[in-house]
Amino acid sequence: MIMQPALFITLEGVDGAGKSTLMDFIAMLFANAGREVVKTREPGGTQTGEQIRAMLLDRDNINLRHNTELLLLFAARMQHIEEVIKPALALGKVVLCDRFTDASYAYQGGGRGLAPTRVQTLETWVQQGLQPDLTLLFDLEVKVALQRTGAGLFSEVEADRFEQEKIDFFERIRACYLERAENEPERFRMIDATQAVADVQQNVQKIVRDYLC
Ligand code: TYD
Repeated sequence: MIMQPALFITLEGVDGAGKSTLMDFIAMLFANAGREVVKTREPGGTQTGEQIRAMLLDRDNINLRHNTELLLLFAARMQHIEEVIKPALALGKVVLCDRFTDASYAYQGGGRGLAPTRVQTLETWVQQGLQPDLTLLFDLEVKVALQRTGAGLFSEVEADRFEQEKIDFFERIRACYLERAENEPERFRMIDATQAVADVQQNVQKIVRDYLC
């Protein structure tokens, strides 16, 4: 039997864009086409990564420096690549990852204001050339995204360290994502996430169809 080409697909967007729900849909499309799918996420995806995720999302972690945040994200990413992503790709699987390095450029670069060259240095070291084959960017107005995640604001009690940020933080993130998509049109596909779920799914299906064979 001929092994089908491995695929590394990442999902990106501001919080509230609905990408987590669409992950299951995309996984189903590939599974129906007979592909073995690995669903994973960042930060996280490994035991170490999930522990780092807990630190990063903990809203009581008020002293965490922006640079520490970036380093923790890439520490989790290193483990994730070695333990989950590379082995799955080596077996010809489809890896679906909820966020990857574009999120570091968007959140830590755009949102936190860290120099993109700093992200780039870590990307080069940690990824050793590994890049997603396809990145689906779920885009929508920040105001709408925030409304979706809870009445214009994240609920006071449940918001994590990122979600408790102000609207302009998310505006900078969105702008950075859009710029990256424009600069790398061959890797990025943008999906208008303001549409009804069924329409978003239809769009996703059209894009993914080219990768199903
Ligand atoms: P996500 O799993 O999308 O959040 P949720 O489960 O609440 O929808 O991502 C967790 C948070 O981590 C999100 O607010 C974005 C942030 N993040 C970064 O800031 N930089 C990164 O490199 C990654 C991967 C995530």
